[in-house]
Amino acid sequence: MSKKRVQYVCQSCGATALRWAGQCKECGEWNTLVETITEARSPVAASPGWVAANQPMPLPEIQADQFQRLPVANGELSRVLGGGIVPGSVILVSGDPGIGKSTLLLQACAQLSEEVHPILYVSGEESVQQIKMRADRLGLAQQGLYLLSETSLDQILMHIEQLGPRVVIVDSIQAISSEELESSAGSVSQVKACASALLRVAKSQAVPMLLVGHVTKAGAIAGPRVLEHIVDAVLYLEGDRFHTYRLLRGVKNRFGSTHEVGVFEMSEQGMVEVSNPSEAFLAERLPDASGSAIAVTMEGTRPLLVEIQALASTTSFGLPRRTANGIDVNRLLLLIAVLSKRVGLRLFDQDVFVNVVGGLRVGEPAADLAIALAIATSLQNLALPPDMAAIGEVGLSGELRAVGHLGRRLNEAAKLGFRRCIVPATHRKLSGLSDDVSVIPARSLSEALAAAVAGQPRQRGKNVDN
Ligand code: TYD
Ligand code: MG
Repeated sequence: MSKKRVQYVCQSCGATALRWAGQCKECGEWNTLVETITEARSPVAASPGWVAANQPMPLPEIQADQFQRLPVANGELSRVLGGGIVPGSVILVSGDPGIGKSTLLLQACAQLSEEVHPILYVSGEESVQQIKMRADRLGLAQQGLYLLSETSLDQILMHIEQLGPRVVIVDSIQAISSEELESSAGSVSQVKACASALLRVAKSQAVPMLLVGHVTKAGAIAGPRVLEHIVDAVLYLEGDRFHTYRLLRGVKNRFGSTHEVGVFEMSEQGMVEVSNPSEAFLAERLPDASGSAIAVTMEGTRPLLVEIQALASTTSFGLPRRTANGIDVNRLLLLIAVLSKRVGLRLFDQDVFVNVVGGLRVGEPAADLAIALAIATSLQNLALPPDMAAIGEVGLSGELRAVGHLGRRLNEAAKLGFRRCIVPATHRKLSGLSDDVSVIPARSLSEALAAAVAGQPRQRGKNVDN
C-alpha cells in the first residue's frame, strides 16, 4: 500500500515544507515552493508490473528487439519518431497554441486506428462534438477511435483501465488535473503529477501515450519543459502561424535519433506531409531578384534548401534598423559588422531587413554565407546567378569556415537544379563531391562575393515588377 501526502518542495534548494509560503525558509528564495505529492511506498507493495521489470537481469539475456513499433502511416511523423511508436513509451508533443498539434495527432491516430485499435483520444480542451466535426471534415477513418472529453486525471485513468486502448492521446496535459492536488490545472505540480501518473500506466501496461503540451510564456503556468526529463521522446511542432509550413522536430528520443525533422503544410485537409520540402520552400522564388541567396541547411539528417532575402535601404532617421525574420538578430548584426569591416561595404546608413522565406527558422551557421551574400547583393542591386547556392560559416575575420555534410548538401542542391555552389576553400576534399554541381571554393567573404557577382548585370533601381 502506498500512502499519499501533499507537501511543498522548494524548486531551488529542494527543502520541503508542510505549508505553502511565499519564501523558502531554507534558502530564502521567493516563489519557489511547489505543491507535490509524495508517496511513501514499501518496496514489496509496488505494482506487479514494476516488480518484474525491476529484477536485475544478466545483460546477455536481455532481448533488445522485444518491442515492435506500432507503424505510423504518416511518413514525416514516423521519421521523427524513429520508425513508429514504441509500446509503453510516453511522447510529448509540444508547440505554440494553434500551431496544429491537435490536428496532427487526430490525423495520425485516425490513420493508426485502421490497424491498431482501440485508440483513446482524450481532450481536455475541446468537446467530442468539435473533434467529431473536425474528423468528418478531414475525412478521417473513425472505426477504432474513441473520443473522451475529460479533465479529471482519475476519470481518465479509470477509462483507460476499462477500455484497454492500444494507444492514448492526452490533449493537453495542461488541461487535466488530479483531485489530490489543490493547485489549478496547468500548474507545475499538476502537470508533473498527471504526467507521472500517466507514465506509470504507460510503462506498466505497455500502452504508448502521446501527451500534448502547449508552450507557454515562462512564469505562472508550467510549460512542457518541466516534463522533458520524464518522458521518452519530445517533439516540437514549430512554424510561423502566418505561414503554412510546420516543422516537427525531435529534441529528445530514447528510441531513435533526435535530429530528425518532419515537414508539414497546414492546409484545408489538415496537416499534409511535405515530402520534398526544398522544392516547396523555393516554389515562389524570383530567379533574378537582387538580395536573394539560396542556403543549404541541415535539418537533422536532411538537407534543406531555403531562400534568404535581404533588403538594404537608406536609413531615413538617425539610427539604422536591423530586422531579422527567421534568423537570430545577433547573427545578423555580426554579419553586417563583418560585411562593413572586412568587405568594406557601406552599411552604416542602411536599414537592413533579412527574411527566411516560408516562415522557417534557420539556426545553422552554414547559412551565414547566403545571408551575407543576400545583404551585399541587395546593397549593390545585383542578382546572384539563379542556379547558384552558397554554403559556409562566416568568421569574424571575414574568413569562410568549413561546415559538415558538404556532399549531402551539394546533392540536394543538384536535385533541385542548382549547378554552382560557393563553398569554403578550407574543406579538405572538394573534388568528386558532386557530379552535377561545380564547386566554387572561396577563402573569404570578399572572395565569395566577387565570385558570386562576377559578370552579373547591375540592376540599378530595378523593381521586381518591371
Ligand atoms: P490545432 O490543431 O487546433 O492547434 P493546437 O492543437 O496546436 O492548438 O490547429 C489550429 C489551427 O489550425 C487553427 O488556426 C485552424 C488551423 N487548421 C487549418 O488550417 N486546417 C485544418 O484542416 C484544421 C483542422 C485546422
Ligand atoms: Mg489543440
